[in-house]
Amino acid sequence: MTKKIKIMTVFGTRPEAIKMAPIILEMKKRNQEFEPITVVTGQHKEMLDQVLEIFSITPDFNLNIMKDAQTLSDITTNVITKLDNVIEETKPDVILVHGDTTSTFAASVSAFYHKVMLGHVEAGLRTFNKYSPYPEEMNRQLTDVLADLYFAPTKLSEENLVKENHKKENIVITGNTAIDALNETISRNYHHSVLQDIDSNHRIILLTMHRRENQGDPMIETFNAIKNVLNNHNDVDVVYPVHLSPVVQKAAHEIFDEVKRVHLIDPLDVLDFHNMASRSYFIMTDSGGVQEEAPSLEKPVLVLRESTERPEGVDAGTLKLVGTDQKNVEQEMNLLLDNTDIYNKMAKAKNPYGDGKAAKYILDEIANRFNGDK
Ligand code: UD1
Ligand code: UDP
Repeated sequence: MTKKIKIMTVFGTRPEAIKMAPIILEMKKRNQEFEPITVVTGQHKEMLDQVLEIFSITPDFNLNIMKDAQTLSDITTNVITKLDNVIEETKPDVILVHGDTTSTFAASVSAFYHKVMLGHVEAGLRTFNKYSPYPEEMNRQLTDVLADLYFAPTKLSEENLVKENHKKENIVITGNTAIDALNETISRNYHHSVLQDIDSNHRIILLTMHRRENQGDPMIETFNAIKNVLNNHNDVDVVYPVHLSPVVQKAAHEIFDEVKRVHLIDPLDVLDFHNMASRSYFIMTDSGGVQEEAPSLEKPVLVLRESTERPEGVDAGTLKLVGTDQKNVEQEMNLLLDNTDIYNKMAKAKNPYGDGKAAKYILDEIANRFNGDK
């Protein structure tokens, strides 16, 4: 029998956990081929635990690094220092990281220091703008400098990697594991307590906003735009599960506490979030992952950012980049609420992120590299 391949996954935040979970679950199914080692950095705490619980994943190691108002240097140095022992103790064949967070970047540096093969899931996304999104664009570029294997979600992300001189034979187009996760979560009989406070004839806008570069004026402008649009639309409610970052919490409560049809709630677990998205009329977000999920759910998205590394969704017609200028956000919200032709066109887009089997393709490729039998 061939030796099991030891694959260590390292992740720290909610979106990484959601998109790594399908790979961990697939490894558990294929336990004759793979020995999974699950390491969480603990960059997030409650928001990470919510995901682990939904997918019944118990980490083998938790680096527990989160602290209030943590800086980028805090995250980077703590992850690198604390991963040393874990890698030395477990000696993985491969380390897999996901996406573009600071946990991702720091774990990639650790893999390099320990000379362990590094695989990057969701590789090749780019805006080519160093500070947008910040620090994610550099996190993913630097991770790709260090990686040995690239799991690109789309053709376009593969092209970005080739442009940077990464060898084509080390890149596999897999689709995005976000679609694998989505297949597990949507339910027809969904109910959440916030829906009891909303007239069943009203249209729901689902809002998320948390990015570092949007904290401050961009958030204030966007929130004020939403407030004005609600004043002119009596049949619209906004559901905003607020990220636990104290900066985001403060901005959201300061502006929205007095606004009747804005419902500020705790972050939803991923099952609730996917179902709330599916129940909504449209979505407003600066999130990366939500931009990937919306085309599958056939929900238009106003992207509250100046640039996106997910142009596939813009090309498909689901996403519209609207930035955070108050007037512009108001205008785009009004268009979607008042013009059914525009709404229908955006809602009918096709999912560009694969067939929901990305985790399988990733593991097949790794098995093939080690055993050459696939
Ligand atoms: C991080 C990622 C970002 C990703 C986002 C997903 C970096 C630099 N940023 O940003 O790319 O889009 O996660 O949500 O990697 N907090 C809690 N409990 C939690 C999570 C966060 O209290 O479960 C609070 C803490 O006070 C923490 C703060 O939120 O200090 C900020 O968390 P952090 O991970 O540094 O930044 P995010 O904005 O979450
Ligand atoms: N999400 C969630 N609960 C919420 C908000 C978002 O489970 O209250 C999910 C969402 O479905 C997506 C992911 O979290 O899969 C996106 O995470 P986030 O916006 O925190 O990070 P980003 O994708 O911007 O890095």
